[in-house]
Amino acid sequence: MTSIKDPLRLCIIKGDGIGQQVIPAAVEVLSATGLSFEAVHADAGWACFQERGTALPSETLESARRSDAILFGAISSPSQRVEGYSSPILSLRQQLGLFGNLRPCRSMPLPASRPNIDLLIVRENSEGLYVRQERSDGREAVAARVITRRGSERIARLACEWALQRRQHLTVVHKANVLSLTCGLFRQTTLEVAAEYPSLTVDELLVDTMALRLITHPEQFDVIVTTNLFGDILSDEAAGLVGGLGVAPSANLATLAKNGPGGGANPPPALFEPVHGSAPDIAAPDVVGHGIANPIAAILAAAMLLDYVQEHERATAVREAVNSVLESGPHTPDLGGSATTAQVSQAIQSRITG
Ligand code: NAI
Ligand code: MG
Repeated sequence: MTSIKDPLRLCIIKGDGIGQQVIPAAVEVLSATGLSFEAVHADAGWACFQERGTALPSETLESARRSDAILFGAISSPSQRVEGYSSPILSLRQQLGLFGNLRPCRSMPLPASRPNIDLLIVRENSEGLYVRQERSDGREAVAARVITRRGSERIARLACEWALQRRQHLTVVHKANVLSLTCGLFRQTTLEVAAEYPSLTVDELLVDTMALRLITHPEQFDVIVTTNLFGDILSDEAAGLVGGLGVAPSANLATLAKNGPGGGANPPPALFEPVHGSAPDIAAPDVVGHGIANPIAAILAAAMLLDYVQEHERATAVREAVNSVLESGPHTPDLGGSATTAQVSQAIQSRITG
């Protein structure tokens, strides 16, 4: 199978912190697969905001729009409000209509990984508590949580399409016993859409029970569909079952999947990123030279990108090389080793090029 375009146009946004290390490593791995692509580098993030007064320059957005796919590292967002700053990854997801966030979690060939896990968290990416509608008068602070029928319908359909291609099991996760209007609408709409897929086994769980079951019985789940914040939290938790954030990739899609991620002949740009953030604790100036961030999450995000552009053989080659390196090393410190980002990336590249 050939790519949807030759050469592919990839927008590369390294961002902040370890994004600066793991994204170049992932781009090198893409090159090692022999993929024909043109990389267009673009700026975004906290450092960009400090230098240029904007966290998402208009040319970055334009470059992302014109690309076939975007590879994104991570950005740092301050925990207090900074005038003029808003998270560029949230803006990119909104501006590019990337409503579906796929976060796969599979057992890894690592002693730290639990066995028999193969689940996919389908996180609604465009609304919920992440619409950034907050107000405060200093005594009371209120955040809007927006759930729409349209938003719930399309994420439900994405999740059902994925469940059809997997083990035909969908779990709807919500908190409708307390948030009866917002989660109530999400639950009702999702169950209605799921009813159009009679071959699926559909069940539902309250999010707190889900958080527990993910730890006690993770092997029981196939596709989990949930709202924005719940999906964000559950996916970090899920990563912890199979080796941590250093090995957890994700895809942000603007279309329903039909034949694998993206599907169709000419899909709109999708964005691929590790689940992790900018990891300032390991990107500090005194450690940054050593480059100890695990590049595997970013490299597996690049493999999801390859699937999206119908480069399934290259995607498989990347995953097999990653598995081989996970089995026999080298490993970065988060996996108990002492290798650098570059050494792990090099080892994966050599497995690919043979
Ligand atoms: P984080 O995901 O950056 O780090 C959490 C922990 O995991 C840290 O101990 C870190 O060292 C470790 N870790 C993460 N990725 C790793 C890797 N590839 N290799 C080895 N260890 C890794 O989350 P944290 O610390 O809560 O947030 C840091 C910053 O990142 C914040 O400014 C936050 O806003 C931002 N962030 C950005 C995201 C994005 O750009 N999509 C997502 C999550 C957080
Ligand atoms: Mg997160």
